Amino acid sequence: MDLSFLFDLTYLVSATLFVVGLKRLQSPATARQGNALAALAMLIAIVATLVENDVLSWTGILIGMAVGSLIGGLAARMVKMTDMPQMVGIFNAFGGGASALVAAAEFVRIQQMGAPMATGTSLSIGLGSLIGAVTFTGSFVAFGKLQGLIGGNPITFPLQKTFNALLFLAALALGAGLSGAFALGGLTPLTVFTVFIGISLLLGVLLVIPIGGADMPVVISLLNSYSGLAAAAAGFVVGNMVLIISGALVGAAGLILTIAMCKAMNRSLANVAFGTFGGESTTAQVASGEKPVRSIDAEQAAMVLAYAQSVVVVPGYGLAVAQAQHELRKVMEQLEERGVDVKYAIHPVAGRMPGHMNVLLAEADVPYDKLFDLDEINDDFQRTDVVLVVGANDVVNPESRNPQSVIAGMPILDVDRAKNCIVMKRSLSPGFAGIDNPLFYLDGTMMFFGDAKVSMSDLAREVREA
Ligand code: TAP
Repeated sequence: MDLSFLFDLTYLVSATLFVVGLKRLQSPATARQGNALAALAMLIAIVATLVENDVLSWTGILIGMAVGSLIGGLAARMVKMTDMPQMVGIFNAFGGGASALVAAAEFVRIQQMGAPMATGTSLSIGLGSLIGAVTFTGSFVAFGKLQGLIGGNPITFPLQKTFNALLFLAALALGAGLSGAFALGGLTPLTVFTVFIGISLLLGVLLVIPIGGADMPVVISLLNSYSGLAAAAAGFVVGNMVLIISGALVGAAGLILTIAMCKAMNRSLANVAFGTFGGESTTAQVASGEKPVRSIDAEQAAMVLAYAQSVVVVPGYGLAVAQAQHELRKVMEQLEERGVDVKYAIHPVAGRMPGHMNVLLAEADVPYDKLFDLDEINDDFQRTDVVLVVGANDVVNPESRNPQSVIAGMPILDVDRAKNCIVMKRSLSPGFAGIDNPLFYLDGTMMFFGDAKVSMSDLAREVREA
């Protein structure tokens, strides 16, 4: 009996579930369900593929699935939220590596059969292994930079871009030679392929090392997109429809996310990829410390907050570092009990990964309807009594209105337009962009120095007693 129709139908169901799952990821309220749907779609796709094809070793596959599930489950439980970009980086590396291996296996199989390779097949194999290998090594470098295993500073050398461009051209030439359409100096196809893979692996390293550590989340999102493209190419290699669709979805979603991140920072993708922005070196432009700031303690901060009518909280990377989200929610609940109107303003690139603040606040059970995007809340600041900035810096830096600044044009939360602003951070040190923040020196700004978790606990006590 021809069951191909049934398999095609199963793949269609799985592809539809991927799309619905992605759609559900748009809101924190439905994101978990979206994730579960996409995971179910992947399970359906894997089972259908295994049943449709001749499986060489069920034992090997079942052991692989068990080990993979165990590692995935443990990683999801153990990895801290602030380390999530690194984990995605590692997963991208494995995704890219797997696609490159599929392409390589198909290349070797065709060579062993001695059959001529169709242009379409050699193109899919070439693209799958090139993008997969670049993603593999590039993602490991990105992981190393974020994990602090490699220095976060851009690593550069003379004529780096020219060298990379030449390597890329060499990879393209060797890739074109894979089909055997033209001879490459009498080299065997397997030798050509091995050199091709070696150059692609090297390219992955060389493309990521000149990018500063702080830009790694954008790089990881881009590499995520690459891993999708590599999977789609692998789908063409083995003729698997659902792999092509899911790979294309990952490729498109990753690219859209990358562009959205760049837009929210008002930087082009080229500036991120080739601009050596960020990293540790940029912290040179720190405030001299000579300008006066108004410093307050927990008791004073509690008084200002407790007698306000409206408070807007602006969370940033420091909140995630300090893990102060639970204490923050408690303080805000105390204020609400006193009749204060509390809202949270979420900047699209606050923190170090997309949706970082939403996830953090959801973890602390802050209701979604209290969270407002930049566009929704920016006009409210001038009517707000007190803004409480918790570990945020660049996303509230009015320097972005200065056309000469490195963050010129970056959309910011206009907290400097509020009547009062309390900034919780440990020092006057800059944020990711490495530049001083004039907000700290304004008349309406009060600096509440200290670790956000400790400060927030002190604040909770003082608000209770206020
Ligand atoms: P940042 O500008 O990086 O500032 C974070 C601030 O948190 C620092 O100035 C630091 O000051 C403070 N901090 C660190 N640990 C703290 C602790 N334990 N307690 C209290 N404060 C602490 O953060 P942001 O405003 O969220 O902006 C994010 C930046 O990252 C933007 O420039 C954005 O472009 C960039 N970026 C974001 C993403 C995504 S997708 N979110 C991706 C790539 C890049 P002290 O050292 O003085 O405490």
